[in-house]
Amino acid sequence: MQVRDAIRTKRAVRQFSDQHVPDSDISAILNAGRRSQSSKNKQPWHFIVVKDRGTLEALSRLGTFAGHLAGADFAVVMISDKAGNWPDFDLGQAAAYMQLAGWELGVGSCIAAIYEPDKAKELLGVPAELILNLAISFGYPAPDFTPTKGGRRQLTDIVHYEKW
Ligand SMILES: Cc1cc2nc3c(=O)[nH]c(=O)nc-3n(C[C@H](O)[C@H](O)[C@H](O)COP(=O)(O)O)c2cc1C
Repeated sequence: MQVRDAIRTKRAVRQFSDQHVPDSDISAILNAGRRSQSSKNKQPWHFIVVKDRGTLEALSRLGTFAGHLAGADFAVVMISDKAGNWPDFDLGQAAAYMQLAGWELGVGSCIAAIYEPDKAKELLGVPAELILNLAISFGYPAPDFTPTKGGRRQLTDIVHYEKW
């Protein structure tokens, strides 16, 4: 799959099949996150891979829109060393790389905002001083998966040339 096709076709997947993603593909996804660019190349991230169904279900209760984590084959919980715009930006890029790498392998994904980070950190044994806001569900799309309406704004609405 060409990068441009992955970018064009990737959709958020929130319903997953029971088929497991092989560890080699999970590694490929994690490696895509590892290879992502970051401000000053600080690589301010740690990724926790969660496959345990009970832990996925517990995590799914820690965000208002995080329910899809309960049915994921696995989740990657994103941890950063520091709060701030640049670490947030860096983690966002690592998330996008992982999601696109997954899509090429037929693995769907969706981000889940974690609204109760302290409980999530306790659940996963993450040191209190680290930042945990996001997890990503991964898995093969369920046979009855239907993307939400989605759609994107047009270039004419968002692009400005030379000045605003
Ligand atoms: C920072 C961020 C947070 C998100 N949080 C959630 C979330 O908590 N729950 C959820 O179901 N989707 C979440 N999403 C996924 C978006 O809803 C999804 O990417 C968007 O609707 C576009 O979907 P589409 O590519 O299928 O059109 C999040 C996406 C981003 C980038």
